Amino acid sequence: MFDLANPPANFTDNPFPHYDRLLAETPVLPQPDGSVLICKHADLNAIYRDTATYISDKKAAFTPKFGLDTPLFEHHTTSLVFNDPPLHTRVRRIMTSALTPKALARMEPGLIKTIDHLLNVMPQDADLIEDFASVIPIQIIGNLLDVPMDERGPLRDWSLSILGALEPVLTPQQLEMGHQAVRDFKQYLTGLIARRKARPGDPETDVLTRLIDGDDSGRLTEIELIQNCIFILNAGHETTTNLIGNGLALLNDNPVQKAQLIDEPTLINTAVEEMLRMRSPNQFGNRETTAKVTLGDVTIPAGTNLHLCIGAANRDPDVFDKPGVFDITRQPNRHLAFAGGPHVCVGLTLARMEGRIAIDRFLRRYPDYELAARRVGGGRIRFHGYQSLPCTLS
Ligand code: HEM
Repeated sequence: MFDLANPPANFTDNPFPHYDRLLAETPVLPQPDGSVLICKHADLNAIYRDTATYISDKKAAFTPKFGLDTPLFEHHTTSLVFNDPPLHTRVRRIMTSALTPKALARMEPGLIKTIDHLLNVMPQDADLIEDFASVIPIQIIGNLLDVPMDERGPLRDWSLSILGALEPVLTPQQLEMGHQAVRDFKQYLTGLIARRKARPGDPETDVLTRLIDGDDSGRLTEIELIQNCIFILNAGHETTTNLIGNGLALLNDNPVQKAQLIDEPTLINTAVEEMLRMRSPNQFGNRETTAKVTLGDVTIPAGTNLHLCIGAANRDPDVFDKPGVFDITRQPNRHLAFAGGPHVCVGLTLARMEGRIAIDRFLRRYPDYELAARRVGGGRIRFHGYQSLPCTLS
């Protein structure tokens, strides 16, 4: 039987045949540890929207995983994604009010400049993750909170360690790296917030000033502020790196689609949606049941941890025609890469903008890029992407 805690060899690099089998045979699958794996698009869609029966709060699940009163426990149980109202509502309202279309439109010229600069300085034997895909979100999210340029160095490793601790199974080293990253990140942000309070930025464009100021309903506490800043910095890093890396790998592996996109650059928007569907940067989410429910023919007790498999839902043949085919013109494309309901990704417009501009400008500059055979997968179950994509540019 498929067990997410002991996945088959090669699952992290290529989970897709396993998802197809789960969808066909056991779309609702109880796991040996008492949790349940859910794969159907309709089930995920309904679960995301029913926040009374399926909660995001993870205090019960994270107590044995991280230990009470540990840095990772404090971080993950304070960030909005693992909370329900009222904390979720307060934090989300302040965050969304900061990421207005106006604020995003103002970011676009800087994003284009950053990407064009990277394209100019890339070596001929480049690594598309190291030299391109991972650099863009660091700069963008760094700009969002106005983190000084020379202080951005450690952000990526902190982020990787903290999000890495959400994997279903952890080694003691991964756990300690996660705790240490939260300690270091908190210390750094305490200083940054103190400086920003002393010299506030423009609340129209500076998300950190906006988060410090709060709104009519009040302000965040110091811990809520710090942990949600960490979350926003993390949420937009690995995910967007993976969107760009996975997208360029998909185009490399599908030369006909790549040629079509080069010929018709206006297809970039539907192409990015298809990249998000085929290789969702975030393959799994979780919810906990508050009542007994029946999904398919499986009855699930209250208090059960559900693994929502976004990667499988995005290949559900009941929703997508020829789901295994990469089709940059696919429309409609009701993928769940950004989840749905009240927790739908706050950064989805920003992520789409980064993906669109990065891939479009890369293709225009290096239409003949070729990935080398020695690509290295990310090795993670939840976050799907590459550690390294060696590439020859010409
Ligand atoms: C391709 C890139 C991205 C993907 C695939 C992605 C995916 C997701 C998903 C699936 C969730 C829902 C988690 C759940 O409730 O189970 C989420 C939530 C969230 N994302 Fe993203 N994300 C991306 C980029 C970003 C960026 C750039 C930002 C920051 C500006 C961001 C900020 C957030 C926040 C704050 C939440 C929590 C929302 C809430 O709980 O109400 N994300 N994201």
